[in-house]
Amino acid sequence: MLTRRAALVSGAATLGACALLPSSGNGGRLSERRIGNREITLTAREAKVALGREPAPLWLYDDWPFPVLRMTHGESLSVTLNNALREHTSIHWHGVRVPNAMDGVPYLTQTPVQPGERFTYRFTPPDAGTYFFHPHCNTVEQLGRGLLGALIVEDPPEHYGDDVVLILKDWRLDEHGRFLPFLTDKGAAQAGSFGTLRTVNGRVQPAIDLAARSNVRLRMINADPTRIAEIGIDGGAARVIAVDGNSVAPFALETWKLGPGMRLDVIFDGDKARLLDYFAAEPVVLAELSAPPVAGRGSPVYTVPPPDFSDAWHHTLELGAGVAAADLPNPQPIVLPDGRRIELADSLCLAQGAFWTLDGKSWPGRDHARLPPPLFTLARGQKVVLDIANTTSRSHPIHIHGHTMTVLSASVLKRPIHRADTVLVLPNERVTVGFVADNPGNWMVHCHVVEHQETGMMGWFRVS
Ligand code: C2O
Ligand code: CU
Repeated sequence: MLTRRAALVSGAATLGACALLPSSGNGGRLSERRIGNREITLTAREAKVALGREPAPLWLYDDWPFPVLRMTHGESLSVTLNNALREHTSIHWHGVRVPNAMDGVPYLTQTPVQPGERFTYRFTPPDAGTYFFHPHCNTVEQLGRGLLGALIVEDPPEHYGDDVVLILKDWRLDEHGRFLPFLTDKGAAQAGSFGTLRTVNGRVQPAIDLAARSNVRLRMINADPTRIAEIGIDGGAARVIAVDGNSVAPFALETWKLGPGMRLDVIFDGDKARLLDYFAAEPVVLAELSAPPVAGRGSPVYTVPPPDFSDAWHHTLELGAGVAAADLPNPQPIVLPDGRRIELADSLCLAQGAFWTLDGKSWPGRDHARLPPPLFTLARGQKVVLDIANTTSRSHPIHIHGHTMTVLSASVLKRPIHRADTVLVLPNERVTVGFVADNPGNWMVHCHVVEHQETGMMGWFRVS
């Protein structure tokens, strides 16, 4: 039966007819598909969905709400992106240590996938974990309109009472349900332009049915372009078992600041609870969880000892603001990882006033078509320690492609040593991370508040 929450999806270019998708029949959960060792196609397309009062044009990978792709560690992934949008796009596999040519960064690792074109991503994820995927061009709009999905790589010995993906994503809609501008000067210069409608799995305060009341793995993904949530669970007991998909020695969840691009996996025991965001004047209820009186099986949690960084190369990565756009370097042909050279075509993504800086430099333009020189070049296998020094009064979730960092210490927000691909750096905080540069290629490093990224706080480094 359809309820008020049912979503109205009407035809986009590739669909033709109208379809009414019930969204209440699956207990607030996303439908999932197993993709290990098989080839699938995701079509990036527009579809009208009534999130607010009126249907709004979302951009989706086939499905509404969001696709969840599951596979087992050791299996291969083959996803063909079919671009049915009117602008170019790509897929970035956020957090996965992919080969460089599969990283989905237009111009830096591949040519952009033009309207009507296809591109196949093929790789075998080297680590189990909770990941997501999204475009890496005009991201503020493409992600803002919903172009994202989850990728779950399971470890074969894992058993849980249940295993549930929770995708946090807000929508910038006016009172009629129309999209508000995705990038505003004020938002870009401050903490970003926040969504007006908060959803989990595409629904406002969904009631999520769990299959058991113990050993339930909740995989929370902050896929919002802007909002930092401070996640807590009221009711039952929750232990953190993974950060950005990487196992940690389990600890009780009090609250955890989950910035854009970050993930948090917990084991939940209980029959009723509320998922809350405490990063507000009043805690905000994001979702309600309920479970039947059925016990679930548990599995061991593994942790990996951090590498020894005593002989690492040290570098201070400064997060700054307020610098006027530097002269744009002349567009130069770019050499892709496979040796092909591409000439730069005009991009859809217009240059935007630069504001934020990484190491004193603002990325020129919102796209990647004008490639500045790398921030640094590393020899393959080199150990690196980055002191990420935030000299600004805003928080920045800093994301590194192709590598997993070990978060070693932080000057303000205490956290256990853990591995991550996105680390939140609070105002005027210094966070020290280490990683081993073991993945050759051209890799982005940027703030995942997308308006910050697209107004300068982005750079790249090369591992030779
Ligand atoms: Cu999730 Cu460079 O991005
Ligand atoms: Cu930022």
